[in-house]
Amino acid sequence: MQREQWTKVVPHLAAWLPALWLAWAWQRGNLGVNPIQAGTQFAGRVALTILAASLACTPLNTLSGWRTALAWRRPLGLYAFAWATGHLLFFVWVDYGLDWASLRLDVGTKPYVWVGALAMLILAALALTSHRWWMKFLKRGWKTLHRLVYLAAVLVLVHYFWAVKGNFLGLSGSIDRPLAYSVGIALLLMLRIAPLRRWIVRQRARWSDIRRKFSPRSDILRRVP
Ligand code: HEM
Repeated sequence: MQREQWTKVVPHLAAWLPALWLAWAWQRGNLGVNPIQAGTQFAGRVALTILAASLACTPLNTLSGWRTALAWRRPLGLYAFAWATGHLLFFVWVDYGLDWASLRLDVGTKPYVWVGALAMLILAALALTSHRWWMKFLKRGWKTLHRLVYLAAVLVLVHYFWAVKGNFLGLSGSIDRPLAYSVGIALLLMLRIAPLRRWIVRQRARWSDIRRKFSPRSDILRRVP
Protein backbone atom coordinates (compact mmCIF):
# COMPACT_ATOMS: atom_id res chain seq x y z
CA MET A 1 0.00 0.00 0.00
CA GLN A 2 1.32 3.47 -0.87
CA ARG A 3 1.98 6.06 1.84
CA GLU A 4 -0.98 8.20 0.72
CA GLN A 5 -3.29 5.17 1.03
CA TRP A 6 -2.13 4.51 4.59
CA THR A 7 -2.91 8.03 5.72
CA LYS A 8 -6.54 7.59 4.63
CA VAL A 9 -6.96 4.86 7.25
CA VAL A 10 -5.91 7.09 10.18
CA PRO A 11 -9.30 8.81 10.90
CA HIS A 12 -11.10 5.45 10.65
CA LEU A 13 -8.70 3.86 13.12
CA ALA A 14 -9.08 6.82 15.48
CA ALA A 15 -12.85 6.24 15.54
CA TRP A 16 -13.06 2.45 15.46
CA LEU A 17 -10.34 1.51 17.98
CA PRO A 18 -12.18 3.15 20.92
CA ALA A 19 -15.40 1.44 19.75
CA LEU A 20 -13.66 -1.94 19.84
CA TRP A 21 -12.25 -1.14 23.28
CA LEU A 22 -15.69 -0.13 24.59
CA ALA A 23 -17.34 -3.29 23.20
CA TRP A 24 -14.58 -5.45 24.72
CA ALA A 25 -14.71 -3.70 28.13
CA TRP A 26 -18.53 -3.85 28.17
CA GLN A 27 -18.56 -7.53 27.34
CA ARG A 28 -15.88 -8.36 29.95
CA GLY A 29 -17.62 -6.24 32.61
CA ASN A 30 -14.54 -4.01 32.90
CA LEU A 31 -16.40 -0.70 33.12
CA GLY A 32 -16.64 -0.53 36.90
CA VAL A 33 -19.65 -0.50 39.22
CA ASN A 34 -21.78 1.68 36.94
CA PRO A 35 -21.02 0.50 33.40
CA ILE A 36 -23.88 2.51 31.84
CA GLN A 37 -22.60 5.79 33.26
CA ALA A 38 -19.00 4.82 32.37
CA GLY A 39 -20.11 4.02 28.80
CA THR A 40 -22.01 7.33 28.47
CA GLN A 41 -19.02 9.28 29.74
CA PHE A 42 -16.54 7.36 27.59
CA ALA A 43 -18.60 7.97 24.42
CA GLY A 44 -18.86 11.69 25.31
CA ARG A 45 -15.11 11.98 25.81
CA VAL A 46 -14.33 10.15 22.55
CA ALA A 47 -16.78 12.45 20.69
CA LEU A 48 -15.02 15.51 22.13
CA THR A 49 -11.54 14.10 21.41
CA ILE A 50 -12.40 13.38 17.77
CA LEU A 51 -14.01 16.83 17.46
CA ALA A 52 -10.78 18.37 18.81
CA ALA A 53 -8.76 16.23 16.36
CA SER A 54 -10.86 17.55 13.47
CA LEU A 55 -10.18 21.10 14.68
CA ALA A 56 -6.45 20.29 14.82
CA CYS A 57 -6.19 19.44 11.10
CA THR A 58 -6.01 23.02 9.75
CA PRO A 59 -3.48 24.20 12.38
CA LEU A 60 -1.41 21.07 11.66
CA ASN A 61 -1.40 22.01 7.98
CA THR A 62 -0.47 25.61 8.86
CA LEU A 63 2.45 24.48 11.03
CA SER A 64 3.80 21.72 8.81
CA GLY A 65 2.41 22.36 5.33
CA TRP A 66 1.24 18.74 5.32
CA ARG A 67 -1.83 18.68 3.05
CA THR A 68 -3.04 15.19 4.05
CA ALA A 69 -4.21 16.62 7.38
CA LEU A 70 -6.82 18.69 5.51
CA ALA A 71 -8.37 15.53 4.04
CA TRP A 72 -8.91 14.19 7.57
CA ARG A 73 -11.26 17.04 8.58
CA ARG A 74 -14.44 15.63 7.02
CA PRO A 75 -14.15 11.99 8.22
CA LEU A 76 -13.13 13.15 11.71
CA GLY A 77 -16.06 15.60 11.86
CA LEU A 78 -18.48 12.86 10.81
CA TYR A 79 -17.04 10.44 13.36
CA ALA A 80 -17.32 13.09 16.10
CA PHE A 81 -21.03 13.32 15.26
CA ALA A 82 -21.35 9.50 15.20
CA TRP A 83 -19.75 9.22 18.66
CA ALA A 84 -21.93 12.05 19.99
CA THR A 85 -24.95 10.09 18.69
CA GLY A 86 -23.64 6.99 20.49
CA HIS A 87 -23.27 9.10 23.66
CA LEU A 88 -26.88 10.30 23.31
CA LEU A 89 -28.13 6.75 22.69
CA PHE A 90 -26.33 5.51 25.80
CA PHE A 91 -28.18 8.20 27.76
CA VAL A 92 -31.72 7.90 26.36
CA TRP A 93 -31.77 4.22 25.40
CA VAL A 94 -29.34 2.20 27.55
CA ASP A 95 -29.71 4.36 30.68
CA TYR A 96 -33.38 5.45 30.50
CA GLY A 97 -34.72 2.66 28.26
CA LEU A 98 -36.47 5.33 26.14
CA ASP A 99 -38.71 6.13 29.10
CA TRP A 100 -39.57 9.67 27.94
CA ALA A 101 -41.56 10.56 31.07
CA SER A 102 -38.60 9.95 33.43
CA LEU A 103 -36.27 11.56 30.92
CA ARG A 104 -38.39 14.72 30.91
CA LEU A 105 -38.37 14.81 34.71
CA ASP A 106 -34.60 14.21 35.02
CA VAL A 107 -33.50 16.55 32.27
CA GLY A 108 -35.20 19.31 34.28
CA THR A 109 -32.60 18.70 37.03
CA LYS A 110 -29.68 18.45 34.54
CA PRO A 111 -29.55 21.76 32.65
CA TYR A 112 -26.13 20.86 31.14
CA VAL A 113 -28.03 18.37 28.95
CA TRP A 114 -29.62 21.31 27.05
CA VAL A 115 -26.19 22.74 26.28
CA GLY A 116 -25.11 19.30 24.99
CA ALA A 117 -28.31 19.10 22.93
CA LEU A 118 -27.53 22.46 21.29
CA ALA A 119 -24.02 21.27 20.41
CA MET A 120 -25.55 18.06 19.06
CA LEU A 121 -27.93 20.05 16.80
CA ILE A 122 -24.99 22.00 15.36
CA LEU A 123 -22.96 18.81 14.77
CA ALA A 124 -26.00 17.23 13.06
CA ALA A 125 -26.40 20.26 10.74
CA LEU A 126 -22.70 20.13 9.87
CA ALA A 127 -22.77 16.37 9.25
CA LEU A 128 -25.87 16.68 7.03
CA THR A 129 -24.31 19.44 4.92
CA SER A 130 -20.81 17.94 4.79
CA HIS A 131 -21.27 16.53 1.29
CA ARG A 132 -19.70 18.29 -1.70
CA TRP A 133 -23.18 18.85 -3.14
CA TRP A 134 -24.09 21.13 -0.20
CA MET A 135 -20.80 22.97 -0.61
CA LYS A 136 -21.78 23.84 -4.19
CA PHE A 137 -25.38 24.62 -3.25
CA LEU A 138 -24.64 26.90 -0.29
CA LYS A 139 -21.52 28.52 -1.86
CA ARG A 140 -20.03 31.08 0.59
CA GLY A 141 -22.75 30.25 3.13
CA TRP A 142 -21.25 26.77 3.51
CA LYS A 143 -18.07 28.14 5.06
CA THR A 144 -20.05 30.42 7.37
CA LEU A 145 -22.25 27.51 8.45
CA HIS A 146 -19.28 25.23 9.06
CA ARG A 147 -17.61 27.89 11.23
CA LEU A 148 -20.29 26.92 13.77
CA VAL A 149 -18.05 23.97 14.63
CA TYR A 150 -16.15 26.35 16.96
CA LEU A 151 -19.39 27.23 18.75
CA ALA A 152 -20.19 23.50 19.02
CA ALA A 153 -16.76 22.85 20.59
CA VAL A 154 -17.26 25.66 23.14
CA LEU A 155 -20.76 24.39 23.99
CA VAL A 156 -19.41 20.86 24.51
CA LEU A 157 -16.76 22.23 26.88
CA VAL A 158 -19.43 24.10 28.89
CA HIS A 159 -21.51 20.87 28.88
CA TYR A 160 -18.46 18.93 30.14
CA PHE A 161 -17.57 21.40 32.94
CA TRP A 162 -21.20 21.56 34.02
CA ALA A 163 -21.67 17.76 33.91
CA VAL A 164 -18.66 17.02 36.13
CA LYS A 165 -19.40 19.85 38.56
CA GLY A 166 -23.15 19.27 38.87
CA ASN A 167 -23.66 22.90 39.74
CA PHE A 168 -21.70 25.11 37.30
CA LEU A 169 -20.60 27.65 39.92
CA GLY A 170 -20.17 25.15 42.75
CA LEU A 171 -16.79 23.93 43.97
CA SER A 172 -17.56 20.22 43.61
CA GLY A 173 -16.22 17.92 40.88
CA SER A 174 -12.74 17.57 39.40
CA ILE A 175 -12.28 19.91 36.46
CA ASP A 176 -8.78 18.69 35.43
CA ARG A 177 -9.95 16.90 32.29
CA PRO A 178 -12.34 19.53 30.92
CA LEU A 179 -9.69 22.15 31.71
CA ALA A 180 -7.06 20.19 29.74
CA TYR A 181 -9.44 19.91 26.76
CA SER A 182 -10.24 23.65 27.00
CA VAL A 183 -6.56 24.66 26.95
CA GLY A 184 -5.91 22.35 23.97
CA ILE A 185 -8.91 23.64 22.01
CA ALA A 186 -8.11 27.29 22.88
CA LEU A 187 -4.57 26.80 21.46
CA LEU A 188 -5.98 25.25 18.28
CA LEU A 189 -8.40 28.16 17.84
CA MET A 190 -5.57 30.67 18.43
CA LEU A 191 -3.59 29.11 15.59
CA ARG A 192 -6.47 30.04 13.27
CA ILE A 193 -6.21 33.79 13.93
CA ALA A 194 -5.39 35.12 10.45
CA PRO A 195 -2.32 37.35 11.23
CA LEU A 196 -0.75 34.61 13.38
CA ARG A 197 -1.46 32.03 10.69
CA ARG A 198 0.09 34.21 7.97
CA TRP A 199 3.16 34.83 10.17
CA ILE A 200 3.64 31.05 10.71
CA VAL A 201 3.30 30.36 6.97
CA ARG A 202 5.91 33.08 6.22
CA GLN A 203 8.33 31.65 8.81
CA ARG A 204 7.84 28.18 7.36
CA ALA A 205 8.63 29.45 3.87
CA ARG A 206 11.78 31.20 5.19
CA TRP A 207 12.96 28.04 6.94
CA SER A 208 12.41 25.85 3.91
CA ASP A 209 14.44 28.36 1.82
CA ILE A 210 17.29 28.22 4.32
CA ARG A 211 17.13 24.41 4.45
CA ARG A 212 17.18 24.18 0.66
CA LYS A 213 20.25 26.47 0.50
CA PHE A 214 22.24 24.41 2.99
CA SER A 215 21.11 20.92 2.04
CA PRO A 216 23.97 18.71 0.69
CA ARG A 217 21.83 17.89 -2.33
CA SER A 218 21.62 21.52 -3.45
CA ASP A 219 25.42 21.69 -2.98
CA ILE A 220 25.90 18.81 -5.41
CA LEU A 221 23.51 20.44 -7.85
CA ARG A 222 25.44 23.71 -7.66
CA ARG A 223 28.69 21.90 -8.50
CA VAL A 224 27.22 20.31 -11.61
CA PRO A 225 28.49 22.33 -14.58
C1 HEM B 1 -28.57 15.70 23.28
C2 HEM B 1 -27.27 15.68 23.45
C3 HEM B 1 -26.54 15.24 24.70
C4 HEM B 1 -27.01 14.65 25.84
C5 HEM B 1 -28.43 14.25 26.19
C6 HEM B 1 -25.86 14.43 26.71
C7 HEM B 1 -25.91 13.86 27.96
C8 HEM B 1 -24.86 13.80 28.83
C9 HEM B 1 -24.94 13.34 30.18
C10 HEM B 1 -26.20 12.86 30.89
C11 HEM B 1 -23.70 13.44 30.72
C12 HEM B 1 -23.29 13.10 32.17
C13 HEM B 1 -22.92 11.65 32.25
C14 HEM B 1 -22.63 11.31 33.71
O1 HEM B 1 -21.62 11.78 34.25
O2 HEM B 1 -23.44 10.60 34.28
C15 HEM B 1 -22.81 13.96 29.69
C16 HEM B 1 -21.49 14.17 29.85
C17 HEM B 1 -20.63 14.45 28.80
N1 HEM B 1 -20.98 14.70 27.50
FE1 HEM B 1 -22.85 14.81 26.79
N2 HEM B 1 -24.74 14.88 26.07
C18 HEM B 1 -25.10 15.39 24.84
C19 HEM B 1 -24.27 15.93 23.89
C20 HEM B 1 -22.91 15.83 23.91
C21 HEM B 1 -22.03 16.12 22.81
C22 HEM B 1 -22.50 16.62 21.43
C23 HEM B 1 -20.75 15.86 23.23
C24 HEM B 1 -19.45 15.93 22.48
C25 HEM B 1 -19.28 16.11 21.19
C26 HEM B 1 -20.84 15.46 24.62
C27 HEM B 1 -19.75 15.17 25.42
C28 HEM B 1 -19.84 14.90 26.77
C29 HEM B 1 -18.69 14.80 27.65
C30 HEM B 1 -17.22 14.95 27.24
C31 HEM B 1 -19.19 14.52 28.93
C32 HEM B 1 -18.39 14.32 30.22
C33 HEM B 1 -17.90 12.89 30.33
C34 HEM B 1 -17.13 12.66 31.62
O3 HEM B 1 -17.65 13.02 32.69
O4 HEM B 1 -16.02 12.13 31.53
N3 HEM B 1 -22.15 15.43 24.99
N4 HEM B 1 -23.56 14.15 28.57
